[in-house]
Amino acid sequence: MNTNINVDPTSQAAVHQLEVVRLGHPVLRSIAGPVPEEWFDSGRLVDFARDLISTMLGFDGVGLAAPQVAEPLRLFAYWVPSHDDAPGVEPTVLVNPEIRPIGDQVEEGWEGCLSIPGLRGLVPRHQRIKVKARTVAGAPISLTADAFHARVIQHEFDHLDGIVYVDRMNDMSSLMFLDEFMRYATD
Ligand code: NI
Repeated sequence: MNTNINVDPTSQAAVHQLEVVRLGHPVLRSIAGPVPEEWFDSGRLVDFARDLISTMLGFDGVGLAAPQVAEPLRLFAYWVPSHDDAPGVEPTVLVNPEIRPIGDQVEEGWEGCLSIPGLRGLVPRHQRIKVKARTVAGAPISLTADAFHARVIQHEFDHLDGIVYVDRMNDMSSLMFLDEFMRYATD
């Protein structure tokens, strides 16, 4: 249900703010299906990807998977803000992704999720991963991601398999509300 329609002043096209479903919606616990080959040549994937990105940015998220807008398909949007000396990653959509860890280094970091609003928790993730995927135009993508970039991709990839970050937590005592996170868990 697209109840809010925002118009990007830089674009002639209407941008749809999609509804983000929350934990409890069955689509978040389903295995998403691959995007069909014929979709790559149609405009619908480009339109959907644009809406996914604008919805992610509109909710101040760094990632948003198709199941989170009730589309059980294997694609997600993400971006990585630049910080300190690390360059960021522009908003990107990965379609039918496959990931595998590089090495065995795992590190814990804070995560939240637009489908579990207002909470943060410490989640272990592989520090470095290899990613293969398609662009919305169907072109193959191969990339290596590490640190926060790898974390975001692993979080979003999990959504395609019906997994949410709290499932990955080793110690539920780190789960906290955002206000308390800001007060007690940040410097
Ligand atoms: Ni999430």
